[in-house]
Amino acid sequence: MNNIKDQENINQKVILLRLDLNVPLKNGVITDQTRIDKILPVINFLIKKNCKVIIISHVGRPKGKVNKELSLKPICENLESKINQKIKLINEDIFKIKKDKLFENFDGQIIFLENIRFYEEEEKNDKNFSKQLASLADLYVNDAFSCSHRAHASISKITEFLPSFAGLQLETEINALKKVTSEIKRPITCIIGGSKISTKINLIKNLIPKFDNIIVVGGMANNILSYKGNSIGKSVKEENCEKEIENIFKTSNDHSCSIIYPKDVKIGKSMDDESQIKDLAEVSADDFILDIGPKTLKKIEDIIENSKTVLWNGPAGYFENPNFALGSYEIAKMIIKKNKDNSIYSVAGGGDTIAVLNQINAINDFNFVSTAGGAFLEYLEGKELPGIKVLN
Ligand code: 3PG
Repeated sequence: MNNIKDQENINQKVILLRLDLNVPLKNGVITDQTRIDKILPVINFLIKKNCKVIIISHVGRPKGKVNKELSLKPICENLESKINQKIKLINEDIFKIKKDKLFENFDGQIIFLENIRFYEEEEKNDKNFSKQLASLADLYVNDAFSCSHRAHASISKITEFLPSFAGLQLETEINALKKVTSEIKRPITCIIGGSKISTKINLIKNLIPKFDNIIVVGGMANNILSYKGNSIGKSVKEENCEKEIENIFKTSNDHSCSIIYPKDVKIGKSMDDESQIKDLAEVSADDFILDIGPKTLKKIEDIIENSKTVLWNGPAGYFENPNFALGSYEIAKMIIKKNKDNSIYSVAGGGDTIAVLNQINAINDFNFVSTAGGAFLEYLEGKELPGIKVLN
């Protein structure tokens, strides 16, 4: 894989830079800036080389439609203040943009295209869309490891039309994960949570042969609870994944991997509610399950105590409301405690997991923190990620 930092003669070139600036936003305000901070090295490198940079990113899942709440504007402004340089945000239809007009009457070096997922062509890995994007620049750089599990136009197809390179952060992440996976010590525990159920549920089966314990928490766990015959009230759940869950338990029996899921939960009547601890049998039809309970935390503590490696992806609850953040905070503290006596190797990944760690000022207490969520898990599965494959 060729890295942009090793290229000579990129002076003055126009670079199409794919980043993952999918940061958590609440009412248009960025609640965690880690993903922005991580890409400052590539931006500063390209600025120094006098390049003109066209940044592409998505935020959220607008599904091919313009959604003002998912505009990149706040992210663009945040980056502007960090690099102390004017950035132009382009709202114009990408199909109508011409390369020679892009930087016209603009003396800055950086331009943002609006949320790339406002175009349905992006997720379809569309050829014409990729060609049009490519026509805007001289070179393409992927510095979005956390999106590289998506075969999307700005990650995959685009590389057919421009000389393509890896970015600085992408290489750092891959090297760190390579090291983690080649030197990993058993017993290995993987904690999987968060609300992107559709992304992660299909991965669990493939992770089973590699790990000793898989702890499923957060929105992910609701599907298992429901499959096991428990009421989950109004909680988030993915439809039609019973077969997948059946396979998870079947596969775990064939390999000596335990699947652990909540024994008790914290519920609210709405997302803004106070929390109430309930045993599974007590969950009623109007409850939202929003965190794990103390019995579950005790079980998790016992497992972490007996692990040599812990990989964590996805919060245990709706941590955006502090009443439901305790499960995630406690998991973090258990891992950190073991880390401090050097009896564990710990890796955390994903935008929300990073946000949890930042809330308790613990981002430096893990051996490695990856910006990637889904991509991190797919990497652990041993898959070659589509965005990496095309760079290779
Ligand atoms: C992430 O947050 O993991 C990446 O930005 C990818 O987002 P996605 O799961 O919506 O593709």
